[in-house]
This record gives sequence, C-alpha cells and structure tokens, in this order.
Amino acid sequence: MWKTGLGIFLVIIISVNGLQKRSIDLIAAHSLISQERLPHDTSPSGYHVFLQPFPRDGYFEGKVKINVTIQHKTHEIVLHVHPDLMVLHCNITQLMPSDEELKRANLTDPFERDFPPVPVIVESAEKVRSKPLYNIVLGTTVNSGALLEVQLQFTGKLFNDTSEGLFRSSYMDPMTKETKWFVSTYMRPNMARSVFPCYDEPAFKVPFVFTIARHKNMSVVTNMPLESTKPHEELKDWYWDTFQKTPVMATFSVGIVISEFSNITLNIQGPKEIPVTIWARPDFITALTNVSEKIANSLIVLQDFWKVPYPLPKLDVFALPNYQATRPADSWGVLLFKESELCVRGSWQITNEMVYQWLGALATPFWWSDAHINNALVRYVAAYTTLKFDSDTLNNWPMTILYSIYYEFSKRYPYGKSTVIKQDSTSAKTELIFRMLNYTIGESTFILGMQRFILDRQFKTFFGDDIWLSLTEQARFDDKLPQPITINEIAASWITKDRLPVVTVIRNYEQKTANLTQRVYLRERPHDVPDQEKFLWWIPIVMINQDDLTHNFKLNSTPVIWMQREREILLKNLPDKESFIIINPEEIGPFPVNYDSENWNMLSRYLCSDQRTRIPVYTRAKLLHDAWNLAYAGDLNFGTALNMTLFLKNERDYQAWDPVFTLIDHIGRHIDSSAAHKKFQAYVKMLLTPLYEELGDEPKEGESYGITHLRGSSKVFLCQSGYEPCIKEAQNAYKIWMDSPDPDEGNPVSNQYICPVFKWGTMKEWEFGLERVIKFPASRIPSERTYLLKTLAGCPNDEKKVDRLLNITILEQNGNFTDNDIYLIFSMLTGSANGYTSLFNFLRKNWDLIKIRFEEKPHLWNTMVTSATMMFKTQEGLDMVSELYVERQSEFGTADFVIEKALKNIKEETKWSNENLPVIEAWLDRYMIDNGVTV
Ligand SMILES: *[C@@H]1O[C@H](CO)[C@@H](O)[C@H](O)[C@H]1NC(C)=O
Ligand SMILES: *[C@@H]1O[C@H](CO)[C@@H](O)[C@H](O)[C@H]1NC(C)=O
Ligand SMILES: *[C@@H]1O[C@H](CO)[C@@H](O)[C@H](O)[C@H]1NC(C)=O
Ligand SMILES: *[C@@H]1O[C@H](CO)[C@@H](O)[C@H](O)[C@H]1NC(C)=O
Ligand SMILES: *[C@@H]1O[C@H](CO)[C@@H](O)[C@H](O)[C@H]1NC(C)=O
Ligand SMILES: *[C@@H]1O[C@H](CO)[C@@H](O)[C@H](O)[C@H]1NC(C)=O
Repeated sequence: MWKTGLGIFLVIIISVNGLQKRSIDLIAAHSLISQERLPHDTSPSGYHVFLQPFPRDGYFEGKVKINVTIQHKTHEIVLHVHPDLMVLHCNITQLMPSDEELKRANLTDPFERDFPPVPVIVESAEKVRSKPLYNIVLGTTVNSGALLEVQLQFTGKLFNDTSEGLFRSSYMDPMTKETKWFVSTYMRPNMARSVFPCYDEPAFKVPFVFTIARHKNMSVVTNMPLESTKPHEELKDWYWDTFQKTPVMATFSVGIVISEFSNITLNIQGPKEIPVTIWARPDFITALTNVSEKIANSLIVLQDFWKVPYPLPKLDVFALPNYQATRPADSWGVLLFKESELCVRGSWQITNEMVYQWLGALATPFWWSDAHINNALVRYVAAYTTLKFDSDTLNNWPMTILYSIYYEFSKRYPYGKSTVIKQDSTSAKTELIFRMLNYTIGESTFILGMQRFILDRQFKTFFGDDIWLSLTEQARFDDKLPQPITINEIAASWITKDRLPVVTVIRNYEQKTANLTQRVYLRERPHDVPDQEKFLWWIPIVMINQDDLTHNFKLNSTPVIWMQREREILLKNLPDKESFIIINPEEIGPFPVNYDSENWNMLSRYLCSDQRTRIPVYTRAKLLHDAWNLAYAGDLNFGTALNMTLFLKNERDYQAWDPVFTLIDHIGRHIDSSAAHKKFQAYVKMLLTPLYEELGDEPKEGESYGITHLRGSSKVFLCQSGYEPCIKEAQNAYKIWMDSPDPDEGNPVSNQYICPVFKWGTMKEWEFGLERVIKFPASRIPSERTYLLKTLAGCPNDEKKVDRLLNITILEQNGNFTDNDIYLIFSMLTGSANGYTSLFNFLRKNWDLIKIRFEEKPHLWNTMVTSATMMFKTQEGLDMVSELYVERQSEFGTADFVIEKALKNIKEETKWSNENLPVIEAWLDRYMIDNGVTV
C-alpha cells in the first residue's frame, strides 16, 4: 500500500484502522525478467532431495539425485547453484539409453530389454565464476533421449538473519525456558538453488521426493504427506522421514518446515476430504483457533470457482515467530505467515495465499515476465473469494486501490523513480482490468473462462496470453464479444500504458445524442505530457439512465458500446433533457467521466433528493470523486464540483464517504495559502460535525469495520480543521506527558493527538515536543523520534514554531539533528502553506548565513531552495519568489535550475488559482449565508 498523499494524516488513519497491506513480490521478479536462462540441452524429470539440517549449529548437509533427460546431443550439464552452497561431490549414472542407442539395439521401447545403469565419466564439475551456475562437463557426448541420474553432495549454512532459502530461527519454550530452534524454507523466486543444485526456473516443473533427517523431538512438514520413517544410520535419536512424491511443480513451490510447533488439525469436507493443519508455538496456537474456519471458507469458494479441487492431499499453515519476509511464503501445500498476520481479523491474506495454490503452483507462469499477470489475477480472485464470506474486512475493495492509481497515473511523472510503486500500481491496474472484464462480459462467462484456463494449464506452465485467450474463447462461445474483438486487445490497451483515460460526455439535448471523447487523464499541472494524442484505449461504455432508476433497480453492466480505440464516438437514443445519464457506474472501468454542466446539475439535484440511494453507493462515491478531481485538474467548474458535495449532509454510507477525506486533504492543501481556506475549513467542520456526533465517540457493539473506519477518519479531519472538543481532548492527553516526572522515558500520548496539539496548541506545548526530540534517549525506538520530528515540522499553523525549528537546526547547528533530519524537516514543510511560506521567509531573511552553512552541502542547499519555492500557488507567492530571484539572481549557484522550474510551476498554479479561488470562495460564502453561518 503506497501513500496517497495524505501524508501524516493518512499515516494516522492507517495505524488507527490497520488498512490491509498488499504484498509486493514483483520487485525480485522484475530483476529476474532479464536474467540469463539455462541452456535447454538438458532438462530435469524428477528430483529426490535428501536434507539434514543442524539448526543449533546453523548448517545443513544434503544430497540430491536429479533425473536429467538429454534433449539435444551434449557433453555439458548446467545447473543453478547459489554462491553460498558448497558442492562436495558429483557423479552421474546413465539410467536409460538414448534414441540412437535404442536404434542400434533394434528397439523402440527401452523397457523391452533391461539396460543396466552405466556410470558416466565426469571430466570436470565446478561453479561458474561470478554466476550462480554449476557446470558439469562429461567425458563423452550423450545423445538425445538418454536419461541420466546426476547425484550431487553439498553443504551450506542455514540463513539466520533473513527468511529465505533454508533458514533457521528460534523462540523460547514457555514451560522449560529453553531455546527452541526451527528450520524452514522460502524459495520464491529463485532461492531453491541455495538449498540444493537444481534447474531453478519456473518452467521446469517435475515431481519431487524429499527425505529429511530430524531429531526425534521434531516433526517435518513438506509439500506432501509422510510416506515412511526409518532410524538414522549414524545419529542416535535421529530419523529419516520420506514423503510421497509430489505432482509436477516448480522449484519455487518447494516447502519444508522442521520444528517442535504444536498443531491443530481440521478435516475440511469437499470433493475430497482435506486435512488442514495449523502450526505455531505452543503458547501462540490458541490465538489461531479461527484460522481453520477461514481456510475452510476460502477453500469452499475456490474449489467452486475453479471447478478443480484443491490439488494436494493436505495443507499445512504455519505462524512463524521472527518471520522476516515481506510476504507470506506460498509453497505448495505449506503456507508460512508472520504470527501477527495470521491472527488478524480479516481473511484476505489467507485467501490470497490460497489462490496461489491453484494459480502459481498448479498452473505456473512460464517466466517472471508472466508473474505480473499471475499476481494481478490472484489479487482479483482473492477479492472475489473474500467478498463471498467476509466482505466487511475487505475494506472497500477495490476503491482504495482504484483511487490510488487514479492519483498515481495522473501525475506528470507517474511513480517518480520508484520501481516499487511502479510495480504495485501496475499490478493494481491489472487487477482492476480483471474486474472490468468480469462486469463487461458478465460474471458467469468470466468464471467459465477461468475454469477453461485452469483446466487447460493445470500441471503445466502458462503465458499471460493464455489467460486472455481463454476469456476470449468463452466470451465468444457465450456470445458476449463480437467477432473481431479479442480480450487480449482490450487488456493490452490498458496494461501497456502508464496512463489512464478520462471520458468526456457532452450531450446534445435536442437530438438526444452525446458526444464521447477519450484522452489521457492528467490531474497535476501543467498538462504537458508528450505524445498525448497517441494514447487510445478500448473503453466499455456502461450506462445508467435516470429512467432506469426504479424502486428495484438492478444495474446492467453490459456495455452499450465499446470505444474501440476511437478518439470520439456518438451515442444515440439518449433520454430526453429532464433525465441525466451516468457513464461507467460502479467504477466498472478505471477511468473518470466528465459531463456537460447540465447533466452534472441534474445529478447533483437528484443526489440531494430522497431518491438518492437508488443510485448504487459506489456510483455515488464515483460521481463525487470524479467531480472534485476534475475540478482539481482544472477540467470542471469548482462550483459544479462543490454542488456534488451537498448530498453528504444526508449521506451515511461509509462507502460514499470514503473518498471525501482524501479530497478534503488534496483540495485543502491546494488552497491553504488563500483566504478561501478558512471558509473551506469551516465548511469541512459543518460537513463532518453532524456525522461524527451521530457516530459517537466510541465504537458500538458489532458495528462494521467500515463504520469504525469512518469514525476514525472523521475524527482526524475534524481535529485537523480545529474542532474544539477534539483539540481539548488532545491537549488533555498531551498534558499527562508534560506532567510526567521523566518524560524522556517514553511517550504516553497516542499518536492521533500529537499533530492536533502541535497545530492548534500553545508554543509551550510545541517546545516541550521539541525538547523531547533533542533529549531523545538512544535506547528508545528511533521511529518514535522521527514521528515527533515530522509532526513538529509538518503540523504547525503558525510561522513562529517553524522558524524556531529552522533556527535550531540550521543556524545554531544543534548537534542533535543530522542532515537527514533536516531533509525530513524540509520535506514536511512542503506539505502546508504555513510550512513552505515560513521556510521561504527564513531563507530570504538568513540568506547569507545559510549559504555559508550549506557551502559544502550543495544537495541540502538545492533541497532547501526547492522546498522553499516550488509549492507556491498564487500571485502573491509568484511575486515573492520572483523578487527573491531578482534580488539574488547570481547567487543561487547549484540551485539555479530549481528556481526557474519553480517559477514556471507557480505561474501554472497561479492561473488555476486565479480561475478557481474566486469561484470556491463565492460558493462557500453563498453556502454559509444559506445556512446562517458566519466565519
Ligand atoms: C528417476 O528415473 C528412474 C527411472 O525411470 C525412476 O525409477 C526414479 O523414480 C526417478 N527418480 C525421480 C526422483 O523421479
Ligand atoms: C556417487 O556418489 C554417491 C554419494 O556421493 C555414492 O554413494 C555412489 O556410490 C556414487 N556412485 C558412483 C557410481 O560412483
Ligand atoms: C533389425 O530388425 C529388422 C526388422 O525388424 C531386421 O531386418 C534387421 O536385420 C535387424 N537388425 C539387427 C542388427 O538385428
Ligand atoms: C547468524 O549468522 C552469522 C554468520 O553466519 C553469525 O555471525 C551470527 O552470529 C548468526 N546469528 C545468530 C543469531 O545466530
Ligand atoms: C500434531 O501433533 C501431534 C502431537 O505432537 C502429533 O502426534 C501429530 O502427528 C501432529 N500432526 C501432524 C499432522 O503432524
Ligand atoms: C462481477 O460482475 C458481476 C456482474 O456481472 C457483479 O455482480 C459482481 O459483483 C462482479 N464481481 C466482482 C468481484 O467484482
């Protein structure tokens, strides 16, 4: 989950409500896409892996027998071996003759005659320098069709500070106070090679047999059930456990856990009975009693979705202490979670890993370039599944991710330089494309298409195109897609671009038609993205017309027409001029829609009527969200957009409210240097106060997750706009800290109170916070200090506080602040007009001294000039920055380019402000008068 620009306030909301985290496992995959591949002269057809880990001593020994089939005549076998794995010995036996040897013996079938195994001479076997490869050169050339058994002995260290490869960790036994060790695996995406030599690419799917040594007190779990146990030949009290042969699978699906954990088993009924075993430390297992139920729920939905039973005979689920990986390990039949992740309220995480059991393990992406689609489809199916039995905790899916990608893809430079954001946005977008397809071809066709896909690709690999192809075939079969159109074409037009479209609908009320145009959606100004005219999408036009909104209205999500990469189309047979239309209801496609003002006005009037709820809730949210964002982008009159908020007075559905907070934040920041800002805050208070008072201070018994979330957000935003009771509450809580005898020992104030106190509270309260940062003991968690520093800089409403902070850190060079602290302060100051204006004034006043301070630190200087100038948005700001530029023209040094860019941006923003601020202010004035309020 990336930040949506709410900055510090969003951070608070997240920590209050525990928004679900989305996993990002594409980063690793991304660097693998271009990685060198193994030669295809040989390929594996089976592994027998023997492992003997010594957890206490931190190492393991092992042996692997790999059945290797010769595909093309060769005298070389190349395997993956991680640099940390030491191979001790290698020998090779030929088990089956080659095609040519068969021919020579006048046979077609090797089983007609007994071929005794023959040793193959190994001329050399060694690691390839600076590559994770192991190269075996044979004494002779071997012909195609031959089956070799390559046997390798090896040893390696158990990883102990990361959870990857074969790793160990420990916990304290609650009864005996002994340290208990356990060993586990995390092979994704390519760590199997650090555990045993192998063909470590997803396309080599073959069966595995595991034989694992363990002490008698421990138990071993692998992908398959136990087959046999025999005593160890050499070690007393040790045993060898051998497991049933797995179906064909990729190396990254291998999963092994050796532990003394406790377990609970539940047999889940279905097409066949599946024993599901939950494992955890003995004193943690009781926290997991409802996990089996969540698994049972998702298993039932998923088996029905795929119409393919859960593919393995059992499932084991672990809560691992000290588990470090950023996402759960979804080995086939063995799921590993952080303890904290497994006992959360929702089921999305578990369901997501369950979906991987089919999509990833049963059908496997051919290469990492296909993993992206795999991931997105897993996320969609996980959401579909969770909605079936636990929609409350799904947290407004998919709106949260949808809004984020709206903001991200409409920036001038999407994702900045961050590949993490790029990959997560791309994955989220693809997930939404699956949702769009589900709506437009219909749910039953979509599901049948998925079943067609899994049936075709199970126990095999797939390419991204295989998914689109199955959907196309099913849609054709069900008559949901006209002949020449393919799903592939539709999907590609969305997936290959880092942009989203906006559709503008201009109605001709006389002729009952509408002109629809598509173009790139840009929110940040200037809208000077190159090559805009080249971007075109396949856009489904789903429509509600006002006359459809009867008492028992049901949305028809079949498009009335597709914009087939056409810039412009004409929609005919529209209702007459008394009725509005809504395009793209329920955010079926990820694109905003603009209308002519007459249609907007009809919508706003209807939303204020008591028939409002006939418009489905996500559609109400969308109309509001689109209107505000289009106004923000400069594409819609702000008066029209503000009219769209009027219905909130009566709206109590949290899903309709969800986008409002981000909007308040975005717009609030944008206008906070203007006279309109105070009125805007007053308006926000008028909007939120009745809502908050109705919700009450405390959660009610059995209320939904969404309501809790709504209460939290309303409170944060009310506090931010200066709601008295909230400020009082915050100051009272803060006073406890100020009165405590040793305030540096720890912070007793909940984070939600800190920003309101620094913003609305006294200088004395703020100074107390500053002192805590200065005296922060090294023994405490550094992130607490960072939080305080961020709020000290980012929250204040008055210049004095900011000035004081800058004086201490820059002019006085207080030794308790590092350069990184100063960067952090600069970045926080850009978040509000008070912040950057104070910074600007400080820079102007202390110019000469600051230049000396930063003489050796050009990067800090540049950042300071950027933060102090770039954010202004009004004529007044433009004048201030221009004056400074003239005053100091030759003195900017390395920051010369910054100031020119800043002036260009401010001019652009000033244009927006000149056009929009008077409109906003006039609207707010009118509203206040109509409601008898004075500010
Ligand atoms: C390797 O091939 C031989 C001969 O076909 C077979 O008996 C053995 O089970 C195979 N081993 C594995 C691990 O697949
Ligand atoms: C190959 O190596 C294994 C173990 O290293 C050994 O048991 C086996 O006898 C060897 N086979 C040959 C043919 O040398
Ligand atoms: C191989 O079989 C063919 C007919 O099946 C026979 O004509 C030929 O003589 C055989 N060759 C040898 C070397 O046995
Ligand atoms: C982890 O391994 C490293 C290197 O092998 C070792 O220096 C360190 O002491 C180990 N840490 C623990 C907690 O065992
Ligand atoms: C669960 O734990 C019990 C007691 O330690 C053990 O007998 C049993 O085999 C374990 N279950 C599984 C599925 O391994
Ligand atoms: C799929 O589309 C149908 C309409 O065809 C809709 O009712 C359903 O909610 C959609 N499912 C998801 C998960 O969005």
